[in-house]
Amino acid sequence: MQFPQSGVPNHVAIVMDGNGRWASQRFLPRSVGHRAGVKAVRKTVEECLNRGIRVLTLFAFSSENWRRPTQEVNLLLELFLLTLDQETESLNTSGIRLLIIGDRSAFSQALQDKIALAEGMTCHNNRLTLIIAINYGGRWDICQAVRRIAQKVSQYEVRADEITEASIAAHLSLAGYPEPDLFIRTGGEQRVSNFLLWQMAYSEFHFTQTLWPDFDEQAFGDALADYANRQRRFGRTGEQLKTPDS
Ligand code: IPE
Ligand code: IPE
Ligand code: MG
Repeated sequence: MQFPQSGVPNHVAIVMDGNGRWASQRFLPRSVGHRAGVKAVRKTVEECLNRGIRVLTLFAFSSENWRRPTQEVNLLLELFLLTLDQETESLNTSGIRLLIIGDRSAFSQALQDKIALAEGMTCHNNRLTLIIAINYGGRWDICQAVRRIAQKVSQYEVRADEITEASIAAHLSLAGYPEPDLFIRTGGEQRVSNFLLWQMAYSEFHFTQTLWPDFDEQAFGDALADYANRQRRFGRTGEQLKTPDS
């Protein structure tokens, strides 16, 4: 097993934004931007393997993206299905575990089956875990966790006063995975857009103007260099970090 060197994040989470603007700049339909975005996903996964990053979470479709024109929503979901079909085999060969997070109950049975198949096929891999957030919202995630915990309380499996931060985290979509060390958003907007709200409490944020289809080795390298220069204090003082026993 390959472990990242110090200064390399274990878990990178990315809001892949800017596909539409990338296409508009070229007088092309937004769909072309989304297709170009898939290529950037491939490059980013490759780069994670090269650098020994263990978990990569990509925001592909938010719970708010249903507000887009039906045609675009359909295209995004079709593109996801197509990519799943085309890439699962090669992800598996590369030792990548695939995990899909989000509310899949909104998807057709065919898509739900494909997701389950892809997850099952890759579940023994551990070189990199690729997590795709689709029909995902941070608020939805917290809400479904609360609902499941409340159910356990009502069935006397746990007491309300036994609920802890750890037990809430254990019911969230990323249960068992480390929290994102580095959050990247491409496309110039500086917002979270309902991504991993709970899990990003202590992530380092990196925003870049680069539009997602242009996100390459260089842009990823810049984000990682930015991260390597951060001092993660988790509430402590900088002095305490220099003398760990204080
Ligand atoms: C990100 O690109 C892809 C998704 C949200 C699915 P956008 O489609 O949001 O691109 P812009 O922000 O309009 O440029
Ligand atoms: C966030 O991008 C969601 C994804 C990248 C999937 P949006 O482009 O939908 O975000 P807003 O609406 O500009 O905040
Ligand atoms: Mg956008």
